[in-house]
Amino acid sequence: MADLELLLSRQSVSPRLLEEPVPSETELERAFQVALHAPDHGGLQPWRFRIVRGDNRHKLGDLYAEALKRKTPEATEQQIEAARQKPLRAPMVIVVLAKVTTNNPKVPPVEQIVSAGAAVQNMLNCFHAMGYGAMLVTGVPAYDEGVRTAFGLAEDDALIGFLNVGTVADMPALRERKAPDGYVEEWSGPAA
Ligand SMILES: Cc1cc2nc3c(=O)[nH]c(=O)nc-3n(C[C@H](O)[C@H](O)[C@H](O)COP(=O)(O)O)c2cc1C
Repeated sequence: MADLELLLSRQSVSPRLLEEPVPSETELERAFQVALHAPDHGGLQPWRFRIVRGDNRHKLGDLYAEALKRKTPEATEQQIEAARQKPLRAPMVIVVLAKVTTNNPKVPPVEQIVSAGAAVQNMLNCFHAMGYGAMLVTGVPAYDEGVRTAFGLAEDDALIGFLNVGTVADMPALRERKAPDGYVEEWSGPAA
């Protein structure tokens, strides 16, 4: 049975606090198996994962820099360089994509994006269970046409986010969570 304490002790770890070693190939394969346990209406399997590590992170950094220049033409050299360095913070970035089918009569795009998001959550929990840290981020590059093209996305596809993964250099104290009662109510019928 799942260890609920394990789920309750997961928290995102900033890419700045992630370092080598990254999960082994066997661990990665396991993590993707866990990802594919996400709910998936119609079995459309919308999720795609692109592993970026080593020197390839520089290529991603170049895309980030171009994305910033497109979004903010007045960006300073320093800001552009900071964008270029972003994917180098963590030793591994898994880019999570959703290939969205638009003409399925039963499964609208939002459900497919939810599926891909659920796959990410499964991976966050899996990496935590393996003793690694991870954090999903988006920012300007996630919505940039140049980045989207580089990952082969069509108009209706989504770039869900950049999942940073690595060994935790310095684990922050466990953040306290809000009590769920502010978000949960018994529903007893339509609002009057
Ligand atoms: C789709 C998505 C995109 C996100 N993008 C960012 C981001 O660009 N920068 C950021 O600081 N947090 C981002 N977050 C939030 C973090 O991943 C994380 O959930 C947050 O820091 C809270 O940490 P927790 O996972 O421990 O609750 C994003 C979350 C989601 C679901």
